[in-house]
Amino acid sequence: MTARIAVFASGTGSNLEALLRHLGPPAPPRPASAAVSLVVSNRASAGALAIAARHGVPTSVLSDPSDGRALVALLAHHQIDLVALAGYLKRIPPDVTEPWRGRILNVHPALLPAFGGPEMYGARVHQAVIDAGVRVTGVTVHFVDAHYDHGPIVAQWPVPVWSDDTPTALAERVLRVEHRLYPEVVEAVAAGRVALETDGRVRGRLFDAPVTAAFSLQNEGSPSCG
Ligand code: GRF
Repeated sequence: MTARIAVFASGTGSNLEALLRHLGPPAPPRPASAAVSLVVSNRASAGALAIAARHGVPTSVLSDPSDGRALVALLAHHQIDLVALAGYLKRIPPDVTEPWRGRILNVHPALLPAFGGPEMYGARVHQAVIDAGVRVTGVTVHFVDAHYDHGPIVAQWPVPVWSDDTPTALAERVLRVEHRLYPEVVEAVAAGRVALETDGRVRGRLFDAPVTAAFSLQNEGSPSCG
């Protein structure tokens, strides 16, 4: 059974594009374990909606992102199994995160719990990382709870911070890793290989490929020194 995924996005939609590329149309004999079946935004002008339209994926623009009942009804109407937030800037209301516990994922362009929370999005995250003088940032994929960038972490991947980095250069390097990691995690959760246990722990295996294949993401830049 192919899991039906709803992607929530407020902006450009490059992570949506990466998810569509990765999950793609089911090519025999490998039936897709998941497919993007709905794209939701709080902004009618979001680039992600145009990407969805190009791929023939139904879209919905929320008139009130804080209306949890309407959100639950929308997800039920489209028979959604899993929600993937991809640059969605509104908080998911608690009357959604509770019943959807373990079925909403988010990708954040830093190593949570550092550099996360309200107002920490876009270039602000990378500026804070550079200002802090850390030498490693990265990507975090986590289950969503009622707080920004706060739920149980599923996967993280390191990205080096170079001494001459600008927020733009760092954002591009982190985004490339997001585009590799997020689709893998979304597919693994959709296929049931990774799940949130009742005790709040995350169980499962992320990569079917040997770990070395996973570490190919490391090639996104050599660690900095000085
Ligand atoms: C990404 O950096 C993601 O980590 C953050 O918002 C950005 C979305 O970018 N949550 P895009 O719209 O997917 O290009």
